[in-house]
Amino acid sequence: MAEVKINDLMEKIVSLCKRRGFIYQSSEIYGGINGFWDYGPLGSELKRNVRELWWQAMTRFRDDIVGLDATIIMHPKIWEASGHVSTFADPMSTCKVCKKLIRTDQVWEIINDSEWGRTLSGFFSNGALDEEKLLQWVHHRGHRQVPGLALVKNPNEVVKALKSAIAGNKDLSPQEFFKIIATNPSAYTSLITPCPYCGGELTEPRMFNLMFKTHVGPVADEENVAYLRPETAQAIFAQFKNILETSRQKIPFGICQIGKAFRNEVTPRNFTFRSREFEQMELEFFIRPDEVVEKLAGKVAKWSEGADVSQPQPDWGWEMWHRHWVEERVKWYESIGLSRDTFELYWQQKEELAHYARACVDIQFKFPFGTQELEGIAARGDFDLTQHQKFSGKSMEYFDEEAKARYVPHVVEPSAGVDRLVLALICNAYSEDEVPDESGKLEQRVVMRFHPRVAPIKVGVFPLLKNKPQLVQKAKEVREMLRPYMSVFYDEAGAIGRRYRRQDEAGTPFGVTIDFDTLGETNSLKDTVTVRDRDTLKQDRVKIDELVHYLMERIK
Ligand code: GAP
Repeated sequence: MAEVKINDLMEKIVSLCKRRGFIYQSSEIYGGINGFWDYGPLGSELKRNVRELWWQAMTRFRDDIVGLDATIIMHPKIWEASGHVSTFADPMSTCKVCKKLIRTDQVWEIINDSEWGRTLSGFFSNGALDEEKLLQWVHHRGHRQVPGLALVKNPNEVVKALKSAIAGNKDLSPQEFFKIIATNPSAYTSLITPCPYCGGELTEPRMFNLMFKTHVGPVADEENVAYLRPETAQAIFAQFKNILETSRQKIPFGICQIGKAFRNEVTPRNFTFRSREFEQMELEFFIRPDEVVEKLAGKVAKWSEGADVSQPQPDWGWEMWHRHWVEERVKWYESIGLSRDTFELYWQQKEELAHYARACVDIQFKFPFGTQELEGIAARGDFDLTQHQKFSGKSMEYFDEEAKARYVPHVVEPSAGVDRLVLALICNAYSEDEVPDESGKLEQRVVMRFHPRVAPIKVGVFPLLKNKPQLVQKAKEVREMLRPYMSVFYDEAGAIGRRYRRQDEAGTPFGVTIDFDTLGETNSLKDTVTVRDRDTLKQDRVKIDELVHYLMERIK
């Protein structure tokens, strides 16, 4: 039941995104293209705000981080050095029946999310099987939904095998249950992995490199192969020396970048969550190797529960810096309206770590479709700079005057996805409640409770009536006054309640109404306006002269 509700919620969010112009399917008029998304008028403003706030926090409010804006296509050797050519691959299987390509490590997740998977799990719980319902389902929906499933093609034999497996193993896991119903007992000796779309048999996995290949120049041969970058990070490593020389930064310092990245994902899914074209916001923060810290400070601080990681200290090695950045990033998410209880921190196990990482924490957001990675914060050691030194033949060493030592710096990398964050903000903002209409009758509303900092439109400006030229003129003056400071939406069409509702759905935190009192009908209220708060519905009377200040205080 809960799962059905979650799906309903995601459906409502996806439909609001389209209806209100947050996110559209790319190339929709041609049937769309899987894994690519466009941001409409509200979505593009929201995305801009996210980028701008990240950039500000990283560069303008700090002295120790500088920016980079590099190309998407770079020298192909970069991807050999980084390990992407040889190891940036996912396991992929093909369904022998419906021919769909599936990321092998996501099969069980997709089955669990599917309608047929959920239905069948419902017939098998706590080691007991509802055989009657199972067979009813086979004869009705099963044929239509998952014709390739052994259970559907050969129900009697499969149910017999299932019952004997249940009798021999009371703790049969859902995965084992699905494997048995996918396997025709007379045709196979080992259990098979079913296709999550039709129930057919999947091929053995083979590795599939996720980088998009292209050719530079008119000749499409192996010599001219290039790749669309799968992460923005490598450009930062490749430009490390140039930036060091031109920015006059000293270690510890960081270089950050926002930009497009491309991955030919086998199964893009969950709306924009896993796309083939997306944007990253990445910081590479360069630090001293632990040996150098020890030489200078006499020791390397060890992290323990409750340690203060807020202010960098001279005895910090990579572990403390790593913890520091996790904390900094969580605080930033809080500052844009994602509270701590919407997250989980997942510390990757040793065997899950990427080839370059010493440690990695995923900041996971509780999306309606599951708790999933929003940002990864990895301690990458000196892997990348050392690799580029080796492959390019150019030194990546840094001379540390204080330590009188030359070394390849180590790095801590907070790496976030713009699109995933926009999706998290949208999911977090979506809410439904009841508010009184003009006659006081309660009516349903959908309201996007964006933090004012990220809200696509900060303020709606409304003349009370459209057909009163003085109200319209005054409202337009107020609009022009606010425009240099924030995004404003002017709306004169329809009843005022309807106009408020439209802005509630867009997530606009404030509504300014120009009424007859503004024009001086009540003398003491001349040149004042009402400001309505989207969340509390409270209305303040504010002098036009003080309006910019009033709003700026609330959106900064
Ligand atoms: N430089 C490290 C790196 O790229 P990653 O965990 O592969 O690490 C970092 O990616 C972030 O980029 C993720 O946390 C996610 O927010 C975003 N991201 C990665 N793949 C994505 C995809 N296919 N679609 C949308 N966002 C993606």
